[in-house]
Formats: sequence, C-alpha cells, structure tokens
Amino acid sequence: MKSPALRYIILINIGIVVLLALFKYVLIENAIFDNPLPGEPASLYQQFTEDTIHVDHTEFEALLDGRGPYYLAADHPKLIQYVRDNVLIPPSTLPYNLTHPETKNSSPEGQIKRALSILKNKKNGFFIEAGALTGEFWSDSLSLERFYDWTGLLVEASPTSFKELKTKNRKAWSANCCLSPKPYPIKVTFDPSYATGQIVDTDTSKVKSGQVVVQCFPLQTLLLAINQTHVDYCSLDIQGSEMDVIKTLPLDTIDIKVFSIEHVLIIGGKPVISGYMKTQGYTFHSTVNIDMFFVKH
Ligand SMILES: *[C@@H]1O[C@H](CO)[C@@H](O)[C@H](O)[C@H]1NC(C)=O
Ligand SMILES: *[C@@H]1O[C@H](CO)[C@@H](O)[C@H](O)[C@H]1NC(C)=O
Repeated sequence: MKSPALRYIILINIGIVVLLALFKYVLIENAIFDNPLPGEPASLYQQFTEDTIHVDHTEFEALLDGRGPYYLAADHPKLIQYVRDNVLIPPSTLPYNLTHPETKNSSPEGQIKRALSILKNKKNGFFIEAGALTGEFWSDSLSLERFYDWTGLLVEASPTSFKELKTKNRKAWSANCCLSPKPYPIKVTFDPSYATGQIVDTDTSKVKSGQVVVQCFPLQTLLLAINQTHVDYCSLDIQGSEMDVIKTLPLDTIDIKVFSIEHVLIIGGKPVISGYMKTQGYTFHSTVNIDMFFVKH
C-alpha cells in the first residue's frame, strides 16, 4: 500500500502530464488547421509549411471525415500525398477494353462535339470528368482520349461503376471518390444508383440499405496530386453538387478553359450558375441537352 502523500504526488504528476499533452495538442491543431469558411479558397487557411506540420496517422484519418472543428485544407501537403498514394490510379498503358469500340462518339448528346468546337479541335488536351460512370457509356471524355490524344482525370464515386471503369484501361487518371462540396475532405452518404448516383446526406451516421459512405476530396487536391493546374475541359455531372464543387476551386490558380455543368438539379438553376461563373471570369456559351457550357475569357 502506497502512502497517501506518494499517491497525491503521483496524481499531481499525471495531471500535469495530461494538461501538457492537451495544451500541446490544442496549440498544434490551432496553429495548423484554421477553420475554413465554406466557399473560400483553401489556400487562404493553409498558411503553414510542411515543417510545421505534425499530424499523426490517427489524427489525419479522423480529419478526412470533415466533421470539424478542424479541417484539412485542400492544398495541405499531407493530404496531397495521401491522395497520390491511396486514391489516384495512373493512366493505363494497356490497350482499351471497350464493350463497343466501334462507337466513335462516346457522348451522343453532343458534349464532346461542343467542347471540341469551342477548343478548335485541340489535340493533347486535358479533361476532368465527374461522374465518370463506367468510363465508356455517356462518357464526356472517351472520344477525346481515343481520337484527339487527350488525357485527364476521371472521378467516380460509385464503387460498382468504378470497378467496371478500371477494366476499360482508360488513358487517364482515375479516382474512386466523390468531389467534395467543401474546400476540405469530407465523408458523405452516397446513393450509387447507376447514372444518378448522388450525395444524399453529409451525415454518415444514418446510412440506409443500398447507400454507401464515400470519401470526398476537393477537386483542387486531386489536381495538385497529379501536378495539373491547366485543364481544357471540365465536365461536371454530379447530381446537384456542381456549384458547391466549383465554389471550392481557386479559379485564379487553377486554369480551366471550358466547363460543362449539368444545371437541372441546381437550386436556382441557370441564372444562379451563370451569375457565379460570370464573377469567376466565364461567359455562358451554349446549352447541350441539360449541360451549360462556359468559356473562360
Ligand atoms: C474487359 O471488360 C469486360 C467487361 O467489363 C470484363 O469482364 C473483362 O474482365 C475485361 N478484361 C480485362 C482484360 O480487363
Ligand atoms: C508531381 O510533382 C512531385 C514533386 O515535384 C513529384 O514528386 C510527383 O512525382 C509528381 N507527380 C506526378 C503525378 O506527376
């Protein structure tokens, strides 16, 4: 049996250690993760260099949830490295494995045709396509890759569609994730119904049958991870999250020439989209089916 005095000394020491640890944690966290304001470019609150960053593995994984009170900035070096190592799949070097190789135009509604006409049949361009579905049917990028030597980034949140996408051997980067509607990574509840897969809730605690929890990353993070800040054509068809995703992008440092944005599920519709795009230096060009085209001027 220890003497009461010794017990007090031990307790006081434990108390000091716990307090110091907490204090250190709070200091580090406050210094590194400024609370971002939704819609603001991530670079505004990522003001620290890699040497000042100390986030251990557990803390880092927890931050990917995007539940706060601290967030990982889209251009956080550790996040960029994580995405490089765990999310992005490089372009395939194998021959295409397409179900219908004879189909020359992968976007029969005319999106590719319109993009090419705006970009004067540009060769060797770079695209972003989200959602990419299986990478073949209704693809707003496959023909660019096959016949105009483009490469790009394919983003598809549905695990089922992505599994098939991988078998196509696309000559583009691909990522099985959703694009974050916030300027930091976040996990969401996703309904992967084919072609209409969409974020149903940012609360991941009430996942219904058939729904899955998916990790979203900011588009900026994906682009930084592949060192790509110039994009010729960005096709966003992500069932209502289009504007939230665009608002996370620092369009002064990421140069995107042409956007096509599906407008039907966006609250406020066309005027809201046009209004925001105008503030970012874009002119409305035309509509193809339910996609609005914008060109940077
Ligand atoms: C080619 O695609 C089909 C259909 O998606 C798939 O079943 C098959 O395994 C793929 N082949 C290769 C070599 O990936
Ligand atoms: C991007 O640049 C970094 C640093 O220069 C390099 O380590 C990395 O391999 C590059 N990644 C790609 C995909 O080009």
